[in-house]
Amino acid sequence: MSELNNIALKILEKGKGILAADESTGTMTKRLNSVNVPSTPENRLLFRHSLFSAASMTDCIGGVILYDETIKQDISKKISIPELILKMGSAPGIKVDTGAKVLAGSPDEKITEGLDGLRERLKEYYKLGAKFTKWRGVYSISENYPSKLSIQSNAHALARYSALVQECYMVPIVEPEVLMDGGHSAEECYKKTSEVIQKCFEELILHKIDLRGIILKPNMILSGINSKNKISNEEVAKLTIKCLKNSVPSEVPGIAFLSGGQSEIEATENLNLINKYNDTNFIMSYSYGRALQQSALKYWSKDIQNIEGTQKVFNHRAKMNTLAAQGKWSKDLEI
Ligand code: G3H
Repeated sequence: MSELNNIALKILEKGKGILAADESTGTMTKRLNSVNVPSTPENRLLFRHSLFSAASMTDCIGGVILYDETIKQDISKKISIPELILKMGSAPGIKVDTGAKVLAGSPDEKITEGLDGLRERLKEYYKLGAKFTKWRGVYSISENYPSKLSIQSNAHALARYSALVQECYMVPIVEPEVLMDGGHSAEECYKKTSEVIQKCFEELILHKIDLRGIILKPNMILSGINSKNKISNEEVAKLTIKCLKNSVPSEVPGIAFLSGGQSEIEATENLNLINKYNDTNFIMSYSYGRALQQSALKYWSKDIQNIEGTQKVFNHRAKMNTLAAQGKWSKDLEI
């Protein structure tokens, strides 16, 4: 078994999932401002440090995706953030794309950038302790979108990124996110997501990626946020499994969903149903940002020195999602 496969399997073992704490400083500032906390490097570190030292890091969180600022921060003279994460029994990871920019030739769409100088940055992150990385391509659905151009060019970038990451002994998280924004139906989301994922694998194979050493981070199949025809959670789970079964090569060890704007409970409930109905060999877990942090952030903002209380809220959410990743969650476990 390849070393990269071992890393991927360890991150997702026993219902463990990934904490996506890789908000850029701009996004984190918006999150902190929304709960009236000033966005200083100290406050960003204080909140993140409280999550990374919580008990659930050992039992539930197999990996943490960090942002460039955080992977270089220390919690004391002797311990850096990646060292803390490793000490807690989890794996440090790093977001390496530099964001989605306007796609020339289709200005209503986005292309993710960050390939220039990536090989050198990866070496630096590896030395800092990173075991895996993340790159997010983003697509929106409307009558004419996503276009062939955006599907093709984002898949190409995801593949070139993955090749460089594997060359540097780390596991690439491949994240093609089809956004929930819009009034489209779940069927439309199914169709577009399938097309996007299939193109990604076509490119990954062309670029000779070891598929046993990646983690796919897709969206679930949902109707658009403004759609009048919502589908049930059972249908979300069944369509999501059908899409992945038809689009993802069987060598891929694990799939870790993004939450993409779902509420905390919705993201947990859908993951639980996906695992109840999962008739594939893929591990189906989570790589949530907002759906793991929202309640904890709100709680923390009331008293930013109350680390213990903040960790309790975070531990609960992490535990619920780890149960859901094994199909063992039920609503009555929520407090
Ligand atoms: O790239 C997106 C994040 O890693 C996941 O964030 O779960 O809030 O969508 P989310």
